[in-house]
Amino acid sequence: MIEVENICKSFRPSGQTGRIVALRDISFRLAPREVLGIVGKSGAGKTTLLRVLSLQIPPDSGRLDFGATRIDSRTPRPLRREVMRRTSTVFQGFSLLYNRNVLENVALPLKLRGRSRAEREGCAREMLDFVGLGAHAGSDPITLSGGEAQRVAIARALVTAPEVLFLDEPTSALDAETSRDILDLLKKVRQSYPVAMVLVAHHMEVVRYMCDRVLHLDAGRALRLGPIRNAARFRLDPIEALWEGDGDV
Ligand SMILES: Nc1ncnc2c1ncn2[C@@H]1O[C@H](COP(=O)(O)OP(=O)(O)OP(=O)(O)O)[C@@H](O)[C@H]1O
Ligand SMILES: [Mg+2]
Repeated sequence: MIEVENICKSFRPSGQTGRIVALRDISFRLAPREVLGIVGKSGAGKTTLLRVLSLQIPPDSGRLDFGATRIDSRTPRPLRREVMRRTSTVFQGFSLLYNRNVLENVALPLKLRGRSRAEREGCAREMLDFVGLGAHAGSDPITLSGGEAQRVAIARALVTAPEVLFLDEPTSALDAETSRDILDLLKKVRQSYPVAMVLVAHHMEVVRYMCDRVLHLDAGRALRLGPIRNAARFRLDPIEALWEGDGDV
């Protein structure tokens, strides 16, 4: 699905001379329909890796192979955008447009792709029904709870039938129960659509519940990549031990 080879990325913060190295020589493969978790401390490079994988920013060096298409620092923008359109991203904090209703928010990516109004609305309604918010099509996004807003963001991400879905801490703004509802929705996505997911998470429980493998980033390096049964070794947040023990999370 995606093959990542030797990705490096650094930033020069404005007003400073030195560079911050955010990613150092990252390589891995994402299989079709795989769900990969990315964990690590704040500043480890998780969001930067997600932005490079989703082609929002080019790597300084290294390559990304999306199927037969190779992307590197020299890839022309139009080709990068074309491949980018095979993916969707759920950003931290929902990023809904508050001057449009829920249906229009979900339909927006299809509008940007020049689809007809009838097709846009039909697909958007279908996705809203899928995430359980069919009754909210005409609602103003400001009236939604955090969990509902995240469902709308997920519907909007899925409306273009992406091959890969990138999610940056999709449950970090939600309480434990709502988090589980969102993760259950993502499991339903997984069962219903042929989509791979890359999910940044702060809490190991989220990764353990959702993911096939986990990539542990530390100061921009891939410290370890392994199947989820090894993940307990990476426990990051002891507070989340609250969730342990019921076997049902
Ligand atoms: N646009 C940018 N300009 C300058 N520095 C940046 C930029 N984006 C990221 N960085 C730096 O790169 C490093 C990695 O940042 P990143 O946002 O990827 O971390 P993260 O693992 O997502 O952290 P968090 O868990 O807090 O979201 C940090 O030192 C950050 O300050
Ligand atoms: Mg981040």
